[in-house]
Amino acid sequence: MLIDNHGRQLSYLRFAVTDRCNLRCFYCMPEEGLNWLSRAELMTYEEMMRACSVLVNMGIDKIRITGGEPFVRKDIMHLLSGLAALDGLKDLSMTTNGVLTAPYVAEMKMLGIRNVNLSLDTLDPNRFFSITLRDEFKNVMNTLEELLRNDMNVKINAVVMEGKNTQDIIPMVELTKHLPVSVRFIEEMPFNGDGHVYTGLNWNHVRILDEIKQAYPDVRKEIDAVGSTSYNYTIPGHKGSIGIIAAYSRTFCGSCNRIRITPQGTLRNCLYDDGVMNIRDLMRSGVGDDELKNSLLKAFSQRAKDGWEAERLRSENKSAHESMATIGG
Ligand code: GTP
Ligand code: 5AD
Ligand code: SF4
Repeated sequence: MLIDNHGRQLSYLRFAVTDRCNLRCFYCMPEEGLNWLSRAELMTYEEMMRACSVLVNMGIDKIRITGGEPFVRKDIMHLLSGLAALDGLKDLSMTTNGVLTAPYVAEMKMLGIRNVNLSLDTLDPNRFFSITLRDEFKNVMNTLEELLRNDMNVKINAVVMEGKNTQDIIPMVELTKHLPVSVRFIEEMPFNGDGHVYTGLNWNHVRILDEIKQAYPDVRKEIDAVGSTSYNYTIPGHKGSIGIIAAYSRTFCGSCNRIRITPQGTLRNCLYDDGVMNIRDLMRSGVGDDELKNSLLKAFSQRAKDGWEAERLRSENKSAHESMATIGG
């Protein structure tokens, strides 16, 4: 078991495999994109595989591959099949924007992948374009269909934004009537890659729930699993469920079980730190697995108790932050 310096078990690795995204969600990055990493800066498939294998050996049992769209990297299916074969890995999952995922869903299922979270902020093609600046709505909906056809556990992630998609809240709740999906509404966070200026949180989790309660007064609170990012709800008679992720106004820190690796190999102990070591550089310097493991253990013994508080203080002087695309959510 892997335990940090505050007694929290670390079991969940979020691995962002690419900083390049084929969408331009305005809350995540500027229209011109980011200062993309070069190929040499990216971790190779072998390096990613080695890092994951060492971490699984140390006690990580859940890996979530994240993008943008992980399939922007053409060797990702190769990585997924390598990871799926790791002894000790209980859960291999993915978070994707779904633009390129549809053709790979059946193969993912054959590998044993069961959980896919799909970022989709609206059910309207025009609003989709106005949020993402790309005409990819159909492809994302194809991915949703393909995921459901293959009986995947699907969570739809929708960031709630004033003036952009609040009219989608109720239609997205309605989606859960006939589809066995969890629709999760997320508070917008200030990770926009120096894009639009974050003007503060207009829709917090309380307001989102109030909106839902007006249309569905019988919405019922469920018991949340330990470490769940969302407060979860059901509506009687609905096949699916609803979640609200208070990503900005709530602290997850007390039960935080997760670490993150970015596409260039930076290990982040927290969504809000700037990285505590670079795994890629360490591996490229020729160290063996024992040394790699010791460096990781050292990093895990220095985790902040409450990164969110630190961020809140820091954000008073900061208006723009890193893009969520490089962190992977
Ligand atoms: P499950 O494994 O299905 O529980 O997924 P998840 O909710 O951990 O992951 P997902 O990739 O679907 O992320 C959903 C949202 O939660 C994204 O907006 C993330 O940025 C946010 N999120 C994930 N981890 C954290 C965290 O440690 N702190 C905060 N504040 N938000 C997080
Ligand atoms: N605020 C909240 N959520 C965000 N995501 C990306 N950028 C932000 C932001 N600024 C979400 C995506 C995806 C998840 C990984 O992170 O919509 O579902
Ligand atoms: Fe949108 Fe996610 Fe791509 Fe950012 S990384 S532009 S949130 S799809």
